[in-house]
Amino acid sequence: MKKLETREDIEHLVNSFYTKVIKDELIGFFFNDITKVNWEKHLPKMYSFWETILFGQMSYKGNPMGVHFPVNEIAAMEQRHFNRWLELWKMTVEENFTGENADTAISKSENIAKLMAFKMEMARKL
Ligand code: HEM
Repeated sequence: MKKLETREDIEHLVNSFYTKVIKDELIGFFFNDITKVNWEKHLPKMYSFWETILFGQMSYKGNPMGVHFPVNEIAAMEQRHFNRWLELWKMTVEENFTGENADTAISKSENIAKLMAFKMEMARKL
């Protein structure tokens, strides 16, 4: 199995992941209906986001937490949604890649999802 090493690898990973996400019964609607995601804009942002996390490229500039609050206001982003997001991400990473960066892609997403789930829940209580 291949190591996760290049921007092309990330592009393949992210594209494969969202192919699963948009077809998913539990979380697909966030992307298809709640936010009508402009994929031409969203995908390059996700490539840069992971390039920044995994390769320290600093190509992503944005507010990855902030963009989710408006989504959460329309449809609650709950723990079960994050669990599915993580399940699909882990599955996609493990189907395609191995090695340290692949492990980091999984562990970082777990940490971010944990924090995001907490922040979304807090925001709903305000
Ligand atoms: C149930 C879980 C999640 C849902 C439903 C969700 C949904 C979304 C949606 C609808 C967008 C906006 C797309 C757009 O407006 O074009 C978005 C953007 C984004 N999401 Fe998530 N997300 C989830 C979890 C995560 C997690 C765990 C991460 C990080 C590991 C993440 C990282 C990002 C990033 C980096 C962006 C782009 C931010 C920007 O525009 O700069 N998301 N997400």
